Amino acid sequence: MPSIVVIGSQWGDEGKGRYVDFLAAKADTVVRYQGGDNAGHTIKSGDMKFALHLVPSGALYDGKKCIIGNGVVVNPKSLLNELKELRKSGLKIDQLYISDRAHVLMPYHITFDSLSENSSDKNKIGTTQKGIGPCYTDMANRCGIRFCDFIDTEVFKELVEKNVEKKNKELKCIYNVEPLDAKAIYDEYIEYAKELAPYVCDTGAMLGNEYAEGKKILFEGAQGTFLDIMLGTYPYVTSSHPTAGGVAIGSGIGPRCIDYALGVAKVYSSRVGKGPFPTEQNNETGDKIREKGHEYGVTTGRPRRCGWLDTVILRYAARVSSLNSLALTHMDTLGDFEKVYMCVAYEYEGKILKDFPASLKVLEKCKPVYEEFEGWNGNIGNIRKFEDLPVNAQKYINAIEKYSGVPVALIGVGQDREQCIVREQLF
Ligand code: IMP
Repeated sequence: MPSIVVIGSQWGDEGKGRYVDFLAAKADTVVRYQGGDNAGHTIKSGDMKFALHLVPSGALYDGKKCIIGNGVVVNPKSLLNELKELRKSGLKIDQLYISDRAHVLMPYHITFDSLSENSSDKNKIGTTQKGIGPCYTDMANRCGIRFCDFIDTEVFKELVEKNVEKKNKELKCIYNVEPLDAKAIYDEYIEYAKELAPYVCDTGAMLGNEYAEGKKILFEGAQGTFLDIMLGTYPYVTSSHPTAGGVAIGSGIGPRCIDYALGVAKVYSSRVGKGPFPTEQNNETGDKIREKGHEYGVTTGRPRRCGWLDTVILRYAARVSSLNSLALTHMDTLGDFEKVYMCVAYEYEGKILKDFPASLKVLEKCKPVYEEFEGWNGNIGNIRKFEDLPVNAQKYINAIEKYSGVPVALIGVGQDREQCIVREQLF
């Protein structure tokens, strides 16, 4: 299996980090292909805990190539801080490459994101306020700044001046706030450009060669299927493509180079920010899941909304990304419940829906149809074989396979690297 993509099957925060880390141990190259520092992967290794935002998870192992692909929006300041922190913790990170086509997330992107989120506008998204949407907007508007231009002093200066002039007009007109100082921005950011220049190259060409040589490539998805700008719960989505299709456009090699798609899913559901969430439990059950599962954002610290597992969304995730298998997380978290519920369809105006609807108005009226399961003992952290799991846990996993239509390859039974049941060897 020369290449594998790890994709969030829900609304992000599925625990992709642990599987990316698990697979990164065997990979030659680890690639981020979308999103930016809105992502937060927590990886526990021995006594150490690492929170990665922009740096690919291969950084935790020596000798792996770590690629930030062209589909990523890179805040240079936060990337440099992250590198500093990781190196302080003892990581070398000596094979980092940034695509010359990746876009630079500029300070005005953050300004616009937070002004929009903190305005009185009722249509807020609940973003991470990291400037992600405004940066992708500039990309689509053809006024973004790519790394090849960022590291070219002259071109960068021209682009900053032109963009800041335009942004200042918008700032005055829409928000009536003080203008930004193009020179101050340029002076600060040109220093970051100098520091990052050695990492910048044509990563698409590099990946093409690696694939042709049979190297093992791991594509690391951030966020999740239902946050995909086109396939998610629009408009309550991020601005990139976390789904498998995002790999090709975000890394510079074609779809035939994706050999295997692994969907990561929590055995319950969670989401941060606003937007539809049919199985949400805004009650004691949700609170219990949040506390047991430590459901607080890695990037923003926000409490996550929690609820029961929804297999309607897993079926959708399986289709849009051609998932080969699922990797489950948090089987231990769900352990202590007397009864556990799984949504297997929606009821809408007396009809049964098995496919996830596009309309938010329809979604609001959808009532989950639940199947009830007996709980199991949460003390399963030492189990390494499926057959050794409590029978009720096995029944629950079998039902996930039945309703999602995808086999379960990996099962997380605790937070540590080794707390995993492996039913299929990947890589
Ligand atoms: P943005 O990506 O900051 O624009 O936020 C858009 C939506 O995506 C908001 O609902 C965020 O909470 C959500 N989001 C962005 N990144 C993540 C993530 O890494 N995990 C979970 N949700 C995220």
